[in-house]
Amino acid sequence: MTVAGRTVLIAGATSASGRAVARALLDAGASVIVVGSDQGRIDALEAELPGVAGERADLTDGDDVLELAMRVHARVGDIDGLVHLVGGWRGGGGILGQTDEDYRVLERSFTALRLVSRAFWTDLVASPAGRVAIVSSTTVAHPTAGGANYAAVKSASESWMQSLAQGFMKADAPAAAVTFRVTSLAGLEDRLAASVVDLWRADAASLNGTVTVLGAD
Ligand SMILES: NC(=O)c1ccc[n+]([C@@H]2O[C@H](COP(=O)([O-])OP(=O)(O)OC[C@H]3O[C@@H](n4cnc5c(N)ncnc54)[C@H](OP(=O)(O)O)[C@@H]3O)[C@@H](O)[C@H]2O)c1
Repeated sequence: MTVAGRTVLIAGATSASGRAVARALLDAGASVIVVGSDQGRIDALEAELPGVAGERADLTDGDDVLELAMRVHARVGDIDGLVHLVGGWRGGGGILGQTDEDYRVLERSFTALRLVSRAFWTDLVASPAGRVAIVSSTTVAHPTAGGANYAAVKSASESWMQSLAQGFMKADAPAAAVTFRVTSLAGLEDRLAASVVDLWRADAASLNGTVTVLGAD
């Protein structure tokens, strides 16, 4: 089994990692929908990678996400895969430096994961090869005072992924929720992209709920 012929949505696709994942999925024969909040960056990505379908949406806004799901279903039908890359980093200043403003910015990544995975949940359960992936951080295993907000939000995202994994299992779906952890993505974009493509080469049951550190070897 491969990703060829599958439809994969990349939530937050315009960063270097998103572009690498989109390119690898296209090269492997998938239909790829790229989503971001900035129309200009989506247009640039469509020009860079002819064949991807660009959609603008604020993935932290529930109504925007529901409208996105309706547009995607009308345009390409159900999806088989969701790669969630909305992130961001704020930190420093120890525990007293963990400001509410920084937390609100970081929390948007978790909110987007909740909204997008719920909006496409029925697709993923019904797919013969449903896959959801996020990129978390190695700081979840070793949280620091200066990165407390960030590690807490990434931990929440990882917890959500374990809930998705249990939901797939309970539904007896041939689907998998997978967490990749990195320390830094810089230089690992192609490694991440290859790992995403490989999600469709592995058996769902063996992948579901796994947490894999990229760049540890
Ligand atoms: N970079 C690292 O070293 C590192 C380390 C550990 C973990 N991670 C995680 O890896 C993932 C990818 O990181 P990254 O650095 O490549 O990307 P990123 O800078 O975190 O952003 C990813 C994408 O999210 C989009 N985005 C942001 N807000 C959005 C919104 N409200 N609605 C829709 N799209 C939105 C951005 O595009 P627009 O601004 O155009 O919307 C961008 O394409 C993230 O989850 C990150 O936390 C990264």
